[in-house]
Amino acid sequence: MQHFDLTIRGGEVATHERVFRADVGIVADRIVEVAPHLPAGTRDIDATGRYVMPGGIDTHCHVEQRSGLGFIGADDWYSASVAAAHGGTTMIVPFAAQHRKQSLRKVAEDYAALARAKSVIDWSYHLIVSETDHQTLHEDLVEQIRGGITSFKVYMTYDQLKIDDYQMLDVLAVAAREKALVMVHAENNDVIRWVSQKLLASGRTAPKYHGTSHVELAEGEATHRVIQLARLFDAPVLIVHVSAPDAIATIGAAQRMGAQVYGETCPHYLVLTKDAMDLPGMEGAKYCCSPPLRDEAAQAALWRALKDGVLQTVSSDHAPYRFDETGKLPYGEATTFKQMANGMPGLEARLPLLFSEGVRSGRMTIPEFVALTSTNHARMYGLAPRKGYVQPGADADIAIWDPDREVVLRAATLHDQTGYTPFEGMRVTGWPTTVVSAGRVIVHEGAFDAAPGSGRFVPRSTPMPFQSPPPVSARGQFFRALADGEAGPAHSFGYLDR
Ligand code: URP
Ligand code: ZN
Ligand code: ZN
Repeated sequence: MQHFDLTIRGGEVATHERVFRADVGIVADRIVEVAPHLPAGTRDIDATGRYVMPGGIDTHCHVEQRSGLGFIGADDWYSASVAAAHGGTTMIVPFAAQHRKQSLRKVAEDYAALARAKSVIDWSYHLIVSETDHQTLHEDLVEQIRGGITSFKVYMTYDQLKIDDYQMLDVLAVAAREKALVMVHAENNDVIRWVSQKLLASGRTAPKYHGTSHVELAEGEATHRVIQLARLFDAPVLIVHVSAPDAIATIGAAQRMGAQVYGETCPHYLVLTKDAMDLPGMEGAKYCCSPPLRDEAAQAALWRALKDGVLQTVSSDHAPYRFDETGKLPYGEATTFKQMANGMPGLEARLPLLFSEGVRSGRMTIPEFVALTSTNHARMYGLAPRKGYVQPGADADIAIWDPDREVVLRAATLHDQTGYTPFEGMRVTGWPTTVVSAGRVIVHEGAFDAAPGSGRFVPRSTPMPFQSPPPVSARGQFFRALADGEAGPAHSFGYLDR
């Protein structure tokens, strides 16, 4: 008879498809059996009354990374991964950010070394690409993709990071050829710049004007534009941190036309509104992120888009900028909305917020919750079926979830280093009581046990959009061939004279 190192017995296994009574048997770092009645292992955890779910995967978080404006967040790979684990997340995929003139290869190597030394849970990283020279796109990026870093982010705004439409076409062509998923921060830079300058010139500098300058249609326009650019090659794109009905409608319409467009949103857009940016004094700075918080109608549209499948993932966009001169207040009380770091922390609260406001409030089912926090991330970013599943052969990354545990979110008890939480005082129902990472019980009833560097690098395979893609159109084939210098009579498709 099989002997297990660890068993989780008596619980309800929750996957992206269903919830069913089963025990889980683990040997070393893998799940080996999921069945109604298993014998106790060397260590046995009673999960009666709890859900046994795949650990969360957070595929959008900023850890030990310099922002476009030059700010560094409060968390390093250790504190970020500890915070993630306490909230039920067992894998993070932050960003190795190439700033202008930097070698993408060196950026990636340095970033991986930080993660290797400090992360307590399994990890990978995406790249942020801000240069489109030959070395970056055709040497370093290709090497990274072939080494298991199969996704990268580009910015359409932030002067220090943004690429223009011409550069975007170069990027999309390489991604389509190499089967890498392009994540896009879609906001129209010039709209934001124009509105910001007018606001500042008229003395409107308070945090709430961040929301005015990042007007919804700037997000909608850029979302539409990048989708059209991607269609030139039939290249898949994923629009990150979608915040507003305009962008949702654009993504949905493109999907109905057959375009390979995917979308992500974040808990803060689902549970907070722009009113928070108008708190007294500089308090509103804590709530400034890009795109910004919107209104109740936007919240309703986002919940609907998650339900309808227009958006596939919920990530934290954890950006732990302190409420001091290192982040939100570089010029103290005189800091304008244009000068402060954009973003807010959320790694630990992501799953509890979505469970509480999604499942407990009746907006989504438990399988939908599992898909949005784990399985869809694994599929989208080339981690499935190793991650995101409670089934034999998968990594033993598990969150044992008490659906009735009530927790009041407080910066003082969360584990990141930001010093505040935008969710301060919110009561959530549902919290992980035990978290297992690659077979190791790293969180159990509040006790934490994992050493820095005990998480492992997980190379990622081909992202889901490339696995059984719709046929590439004649247009897509032609422009892909044109990008590779191969367009001739064989690839003319009516676009070239014969
Ligand atoms: O405001 C945000 N979201 N800051 C983090 C950086 C980004 O663009 O995702
Ligand atoms: Zn972004
Ligand atoms: Zn981000």
